Amino acid sequence: MSSLTESSAWKSLSAHAADFLQPDFHLAALMRSQPARFSSFSVRQGDLLLDYSKNFVDDRTLPLLLDLAEERQLPAAIAAMFRGDEINNTEHRPALHVALRQPAANSAHPEVAETLERMRSFVDEVRSGKWTGHTGKPIKSVINIGIGGSDLGPVMVSDALAEFADNKLDVRFVSNVDPVHLQRSLNKLDAEATLFIVASKSFTTLETHQNASAARRWFLSNCNDEEAIAQHFVAITTNLEAAADFGIPQENLFPMWDWVGGRYSLWSAIGLPIALGLGMEHFERLLAGAHAMDEHFRTQPLSENMPVLMALLTVWYTTFFDAHSTAVVPYSQALDKFPTYLQQLYMESLGKRVDQEGQPVSTGTGEAMWGTAGTNGQHSYFQLFHQGTQFIPVDFIAVAQSGADDNHEAHQHLLANCLSQSLALMEGTPDESDPHKYIPGNRPSNTLVLPQLDPYHLGSLIALYEHKVYAQSVLWGINAFDQWGVELGKKLSKTLFSALQAQTAPDDLDSSSRGLISTIKQWQMNA
Ligand code: F6P
Repeated sequence: MSSLTESSAWKSLSAHAADFLQPDFHLAALMRSQPARFSSFSVRQGDLLLDYSKNFVDDRTLPLLLDLAEERQLPAAIAAMFRGDEINNTEHRPALHVALRQPAANSAHPEVAETLERMRSFVDEVRSGKWTGHTGKPIKSVINIGIGGSDLGPVMVSDALAEFADNKLDVRFVSNVDPVHLQRSLNKLDAEATLFIVASKSFTTLETHQNASAARRWFLSNCNDEEAIAQHFVAITTNLEAAADFGIPQENLFPMWDWVGGRYSLWSAIGLPIALGLGMEHFERLLAGAHAMDEHFRTQPLSENMPVLMALLTVWYTTFFDAHSTAVVPYSQALDKFPTYLQQLYMESLGKRVDQEGQPVSTGTGEAMWGTAGTNGQHSYFQLFHQGTQFIPVDFIAVAQSGADDNHEAHQHLLANCLSQSLALMEGTPDESDPHKYIPGNRPSNTLVLPQLDPYHLGSLIALYEHKVYAQSVLWGINAFDQWGVELGKKLSKTLFSALQAQTAPDDLDSSSRGLISTIKQWQMNA
């Protein structure tokens, strides 16, 4: 495929972008001039709504962006993903996370349904108390040990849906190799009633290996019986051999497959801690919600396709308006961890400097992704949105019904704040007399509205962003499913670990690393 900047839609968009940079252009004026903007520029998937009317989009923009999507062969790329083509070309694999939420009757992957069935019976046994620890005590606590994709999705979903948990089990997550993380998580736990899940697609990840080994030492120091491991450790991995070598019995291994990327894996057995905490029926509703979004992405025309429209807007801003980051601000405390989850999804997927053929990209790609729950964000970083010099498009997420048992008034304040922030970003203040107080406005945003935050709608929301990321990668011509960049740091950490363990740092290390190591060692000796 020719380079992005050579496409004719690109050239037209490039010229068209100048219209929005004219001094007399203002988003608020555009909104006022088009009373039907909301209905023209909003789209639904089921009862999920995207209002994208507060964007730099006029009657000419959308047709041009859609031309770009056609020229970049996005419809064919969507079909290729669902067909299971080798779209992860550097690792020679498909990226088939959509198969994990495909109802069994239509699935070409019977192993998915088999694994779900195994999860179902395991979850039922643990939650009902039939699965006991080695002394016959029912399991009370579950510790998931994993990092990146083997942690962030399950952590986020478990936190978002905490209101759906019945507290049969206390589910905790350990990811960081900092030993304090495991130490804090083990605090006050009864080893006889604790189950460890070692979650690692590769089973070679240093952090997970360190934490799993330390957890096993802690467990054995409490019970001193290797055979008891069988009732207290399970694993999820593609590397069944390495998990068996670690001492986890065959029957406690849940498989995953190399066609599921780590950051797209919460729908696989990696979701086991979610299912243990919430119950399998809620996990299956999560899958159903994601499947509904999959069907939308697969079948809807580009002009009505929510992930595609959001991806086009992001490409529009990052490449023509110099946006370097996107903020996602859910007005829902339950979704506070959603932006952190999205960081891996976005930045591991889109942080690429060459296209699928290995040629340097012709435009900027990727963007920093960040945010926290509103209204908290308003009292920390929103000032930068309103009067800073950076151009930061925002995705607001509003949940119509409250997850709290009472205080409807507070929930209405929450929603009012969400709506008022997107309005303030668009309108600003007209009075320019005091430059310190002047707020220019003219800042674009999307608003997503969910009727309620339940497993089904959360599934749809996550899948929406997964597909948005894929659509962006297709528009930019990059591979969203590999992550070679993270390998160098892993390799170097082995060298620096040896240097920290040695008497003196090796001479061939750079001056900064040697200086830092010698300071650290000195302070360690003084401890
Ligand atoms: O950070 C790199 C990475 O490979 C992620 O892509 C992945 O989600 C994470 O490490 C954990 O990998 P694993 O599940 O193999 O332990």
